[in-house]
Amino acid sequence: MGKLLVIEGLDGAGKATQTALLAETLAGQGRKVRVVSYPNYKSDSSALVRMYLKGEFGPRPDDVNAYAASAFYAVDRYAGFKQAWGSFYAGGGVVLADRYTTSNAIHQCSKLPEDEWESYVVWLEDFEYHKLGIPVPDGVILLDVEPQLSQKLLAERYLEAGKKDIHEQDLGYLLRSRKAALWCAERLGWHRVAGSQNGAMRSREAIANEIERIIIKSDLFHTEAP
Ligand SMILES: Nc1ncnc2c1ncn2[C@@H]1O[C@H](COP(=O)(O)OP(=O)(O)OP(=O)(O)O)[C@@H](O)[C@H]1O
Ligand SMILES: [Mg+2]
Repeated sequence: MGKLLVIEGLDGAGKATQTALLAETLAGQGRKVRVVSYPNYKSDSSALVRMYLKGEFGPRPDDVNAYAASAFYAVDRYAGFKQAWGSFYAGGGVVLADRYTTSNAIHQCSKLPEDEWESYVVWLEDFEYHKLGIPVPDGVILLDVEPQLSQKLLAERYLEAGKKDIHEQDLGYLLRSRKAALWCAERLGWHRVAGSQNGAMRSREAIANEIERIIIKSDLFHTEAP
């Protein structure tokens, strides 16, 4: 079996950036590395996710309950695993995922009352890892950006793009999502890495170095030859 590492975080936290930097580092060590990103918008397997985000089941995120929304995102991962990266992983490759089951944990928890978080994550892990049978990550890095900064950066981005999906990027939404993310990190044993400090993003390199240190420390590749 290979390894599966997940880079997680709220919108604009730097997931794609850090996934690419980590891929470069690990490939530079002579490892077989493959980056995957979810949702896989280019694939038919994300059709339900796209319908959901376009508001075809209702204009608000709450119009689709956490379990139904989870299933939309989960089957997209299942399809990617079966068609794109499962055999690479089974052959010993290192798969780096920009979002994974962990995104369901964060975003669906943030829709649910807190007293349902525990039963939801137990259900989610059973559904994706045991029932669907996609791999359990060997490590999850949560890029944690201060919500006030996220709001500012996202507002700038959305203004430039001139568009929005149905998740309003208001501060209340970000604060709730962040609370869910930190709870999930604690409950599910993810590594939290600060993406920002004192209201500004940390440098890409500083974040990448910290992620590398975590991977070395967790002895993921221990004595294996690259
Ligand atoms: N450490 C950093 N400092 C400053 N800007 C950054 C940093 N990391 C990423 N960025 C920039 O922030 C934007 C979002 O980064 P990126 O696409 O990596 O995040 P993401 O988490 O994948 O976002 P999304 O949730 O939209 O997919 C990009 O323009 C990127 O260049
Ligand atoms: Mg991204």
